[in-house]
Amino acid sequence: MDAFKYKENKLHCEDVNLSKIASSFGTPAYVYSKKALTENALMYVNSFTNPDNMACFSVKSLSNLSVLKLLKEVGCGFDVVSGGEMHRALSIGADPKSIIFSGVGKSSDEIKQGILNKILSFNVESVSELYKIEAIAKKLQMNASVSIRFNPDIDSGGHDYITTGRKGDKFGISSIEDILNLSTYISKSPNLSMVGLACHIGSQIINLESYKETAQRTFELADQIFDIGIELEFLDLGGGLGVSYDSNIHPNPEDLISCLELEFKGRKERLILEPGRSISANAGVLLTKVEYIKDEFLIVDAAMNDLLRPSLYQAKHEIWNVEKGDGNKVIRNIVGPICESSDFLGKNIKISAEEDDILAVRTAGAYGFVMSSNYNTRPRACEILVEGNQTKLIRKRESLENILEMELNLND
Ligand SMILES: Cc1ncc(COP(=O)(O)O)c(C=O)c1O
Repeated sequence: MDAFKYKENKLHCEDVNLSKIASSFGTPAYVYSKKALTENALMYVNSFTNPDNMACFSVKSLSNLSVLKLLKEVGCGFDVVSGGEMHRALSIGADPKSIIFSGVGKSSDEIKQGILNKILSFNVESVSELYKIEAIAKKLQMNASVSIRFNPDIDSGGHDYITTGRKGDKFGISSIEDILNLSTYISKSPNLSMVGLACHIGSQIINLESYKETAQRTFELADQIFDIGIELEFLDLGGGLGVSYDSNIHPNPEDLISCLELEFKGRKERLILEPGRSISANAGVLLTKVEYIKDEFLIVDAAMNDLLRPSLYQAKHEIWNVEKGDGNKVIRNIVGPICESSDFLGKNIKISAEEDDILAVRTAGAYGFVMSSNYNTRPRACEILVEGNQTKLIRKRESLENILEMELNLND
């Protein structure tokens, strides 16, 4: 669904005029639609015909506590990639048995927290990690549930930085022999239980064939593991479903799930997915004000520290003026105030805008605020959640005091 539409030439989020949000809360500001987040998540949750299947929202894509709480309420579990994200999920009351912990570099302390909280599974990404988890579980006299994240060697397409399932990518374990040896090892360990197999082939995937191929490779491996005597509880095929950053139509979560459930027919394991972008991306925009117009440049008050995707991945976002005027649209490069040539939000954008106008960078809900930083000592933007005609501040704008208070020993 698109929760951001013009009504009488004014861009709204649900029933709230975005200009009004900009004047009440200032800019830059992230604005999310509760309806879009809910509907996107329900598209996963309600599409499963097997009630044991589960969508674990990828917290890294949008980790605000109010958003996580909302997604828990509609039935999502959580995929976390750090102790910090696990802490976020637990702090909104997520059931530990709905939390999957992925990531190649889990620290001892993060592993300990996961074991103590009895999370559903650690997606183990190396042989050394497995031994570390076992040693920590042994010390705690507990049992840790693990899945092996394997590398199916599938190129899902898309930008090199978001492709993760090929041989040579740093994620998962590639050698089938290593995986089978590890599975045997786990089956003999009193401190480990092997509950699943996991993979994640990349992000912004718009071709369902890649998922089918991944499912088939996962089944082959699960069958080999079954022959060792391990019955897996679930197969986790990761996240990655793409979204439209323009007006093209791509497969949606319903398409993905009906395709995968067909592949899963006759299998005992439940299906877990780890969607991020397809739930959060189109539910958010970044509001920014035009400060100056110079030549072909619109210089705005949001920058790469607020939205890194254009600089990092050459990602393209639509950028709209929140007031649809009758001025001529011209081609502009929309850039921020940061002292880097790579600081831009959009290039060659056809737009009509004057100084002081408010622009909305669309489809910015995923990998937007979460990647923001204080580069150039710029305080991070605020986050606002809209429900119908109501707005709620869900993260305060940072102040300069917030930034400086972390720095110590000024007198040394
Ligand atoms: C392990 C893992 N799971 C899930 C995701 C979510 O991917 P997406 O936001 O593309 O759905 C990611 C993102 O890269 C990931 O690394």
